[in-house]
Amino acid sequence: MRLAVPMLLLAAITLAACDQNMDVQPYYRGYSRAPLFRSGTLRVPPSGSVARDDGDRNEAAANRPALTAKLLERGQERFTIFCAPCHGAGGDGNGIIVQRGMPRPTSYHDDRLRAADDQHLFDVITNGYGAMYSYAPRVPPRDRWAVVAYIRALQLSRHASVEDVPAEQRTQLSETP
Ligand code: HEC
Repeated sequence: MRLAVPMLLLAAITLAACDQNMDVQPYYRGYSRAPLFRSGTLRVPPSGSVARDDGDRNEAAANRPALTAKLLERGQERFTIFCAPCHGAGGDGNGIIVQRGMPRPTSYHDDRLRAADDQHLFDVITNGYGAMYSYAPRVPPRDRWAVVAYIRALQLSRHASVEDVPAEQRTQLSETP
């Protein structure tokens, strides 16, 4: 009980401080002069700096995951979220954003893109290409490989023949759904 009064006082003092607006404190704005640094407030990372997760990302980019049905499914899902809005569900380049004015990308079924290697597709997702910006922050390297695999599946879908379908599944093709 003897402690109650000092505790109450302490609480009153501490809670009163909560009322202070944290915006009201000394800080530098971007591009403003900062007497501490010769180059102003915008600091350049020392040369050779590596972001914390860069090592993991580089490893995932260099190690292509094995092609499995699961990877393709993941690729289809990510493609539908991140790429189909512009490239269209079939990869023809007529997605909803393009219908609303975005420059039309080359169709994935164009001969040049059919002949392009997987690394090119991976690099376009990583770095962007012309009017298309980079998807590196949203699509991690493993997912990029999954999307590349799915683009290959889309391309194949227009050029496959019945012989490419495993014999035991061919009958399903002629069945009406
Ligand atoms: C906001 C629209 C938009 C989204 C979303 C988008 N792209 Fe693109 N993409 C473009 C445009 C526009 C171009 C053509 C750029 C140019 O030629 O200047 C392009 C070009 C490409 C190319 C062709 C590069 C070449 O060599 O011609 C590939 C491959 C590609 N995109 C893959 C993807 C993938 C994979 C995704 C999803 C991760 C994606 N894009 C998401 C707009 C988009």
